[in-house]
Amino acid sequence: MTSKLTYRVRKLSDCQNIADFRELARRRLPFPVFHYIDGAADDEITKDRNTAAFDDVDLVPDVLAGVDQIDTSITVMGRKSALPLMLSPTALQRLFHWQGERAVAAVAEKFGLWFGISSLSSVSIEEVGANYSGPKMLQYYYHKDKGLNAALVQRAKAANFDAITLTVDTIVSGNRERCKRTGFQTPPRFTPANVLSYAAHPAWALNFLFREKFDLPNLSTHVAAGSNTSISIQDYFNTMLDPSMDWKAAEQLRDDWGGTFCLKGIMSVADARRAADMGVDAIMVSNHGGRQLDGGRAPFDQLDEIVQAVGGRCEVILDGGVRRGSHVLKALSLGATAVSGGRLYLYALAAAGQPGVERAIGLLEAEIIRAMKLMGVTRVDQLGPDRIRRR
Ligand code: FNR
Ligand code: LAC
Repeated sequence: MTSKLTYRVRKLSDCQNIADFRELARRRLPFPVFHYIDGAADDEITKDRNTAAFDDVDLVPDVLAGVDQIDTSITVMGRKSALPLMLSPTALQRLFHWQGERAVAAVAEKFGLWFGISSLSSVSIEEVGANYSGPKMLQYYYHKDKGLNAALVQRAKAANFDAITLTVDTIVSGNRERCKRTGFQTPPRFTPANVLSYAAHPAWALNFLFREKFDLPNLSTHVAAGSNTSISIQDYFNTMLDPSMDWKAAEQLRDDWGGTFCLKGIMSVADARRAADMGVDAIMVSNHGGRQLDGGRAPFDQLDEIVQAVGGRCEVILDGGVRRGSHVLKALSLGATAVSGGRLYLYALAAAGQPGVERAIGLLEAEIIRAMKLMGVTRVDQLGPDRIRRR
C-alpha cells in the first residue's frame, strides 16, 4: 500500500484508501489510543504478514464478459449481505471516537452488511438490538464468571442477535508491547508519560471528558474492571477470561445459545475439521489481527487448506489483513464465503466518526465492484481457484 506520490493526509476528503485513514487516525488520536488500534503482538510479524500474504497470489482477469450488471451480494450465516464483507467485532469503540459502535452499526445498516459487537463493546447489546435491524453478531469472551457468561447469552437472545461468535484465540493475552510502553488502559489512565498526548488532542479529550461516561455495559453488571476501574486489556484477558475453555465448553455454549454459532480464531486444519464435525455454522479463519500469537500463520495463507478440509460443511470467513477490494476477491477465489476485518473500518472511525466509516466502506465497495468488472465476473460465485495463480 505504498504510493508513488508523496502527499499529505489532513482531512477526510484526502482519504483515498485504508492506509490514508490510518494516517489521519494517527494524527487525530492521542498516541496510546492509536497504538492500541494499530498495534499487535511482539514484533508484529504476523500482523504485517496478514496483509502481505495477499501479494503472493495474482488475480487473472477474463475480459469481454459483459459486466454492466454486477451483483456483489452473498449469504452468510443465513442472512444476506450486500457485499462479501463483514465488520469484525472490536472492543472499546467509544474510546476511538465518541460515536463508537453506533456509527459502525449505522454504516453497516446503510450498506447492508454484517456487523459484530465485542463482549467489550462500549454500547450495550440491548441498544444495538433495538436500533439495528441488519445482521449482527455478539462476539463472546468466555469468562471465569459463569453468571456473566449466562447473562451474555440471555441478553443476546432477548435482543434478537443473529449469531454468537466465540473467540477462541485469546486463551491468554498476546504480548502487546506498544500498549505496555504507552500505558494504555480501559478506561484510559493518564500518566506522566502519556498525559501530554491527550492534552495535545483536545477534540478527543473534550469528547472523552464531557460526553456520555465511558462504560463497557455488557460486562459492568458483573465486573468493575474495564468500566469503573482502569485495567490494561492484557490484564483483563489474563485475569477475567477462563483458560480452561475447551471444545466441551464451546459445545455447551452453542447448545445454551441454540442459534447460529461461529468460532472465531480457527487457524489449523485439524481444528477447522473439528469445528465442522461439531456442526458450527461458520468459522472465522483469524489470528485476531496479529494481536495474539506473533509468528502465527496468516489467515489467507491457511485459507485454501481449510476450505478443502471442511468441504462445505460450514462456512469459512477470512478475517484479517484485508485493506483492498482485490484482497476480498482473492479470498473469495480461494473459497471463502465472506471476508471480515477490523482495522479497515476502525482507522476510519477513529479518524472521522460515522462519515469516516461511511467513506471507508464506500471506497471498499467501489474497489470490489471495479475489481469484479475488471475480472470479468458479475456474481461473487463466479470467482474460483482458476481465477488466481500463486507466484
Ligand atoms: C480487535 N479484535 C477483537 N476480536 C475479538 O474477538 N474481540 C474483540 O473485542 C476484539 N477487539 C479488537 C480491538 C481492536 C482495536 C482490533 C484492531 C481488533 C480482532 C478483530 O475482531 C479482527 O479479528 C481483526 O481486527 C482482524 O484483523 P484486521 O482486519 O484488523 O487486520
Ligand atoms: C483486543 C481485544 C479486546 O484485541 O480483543 O484488544
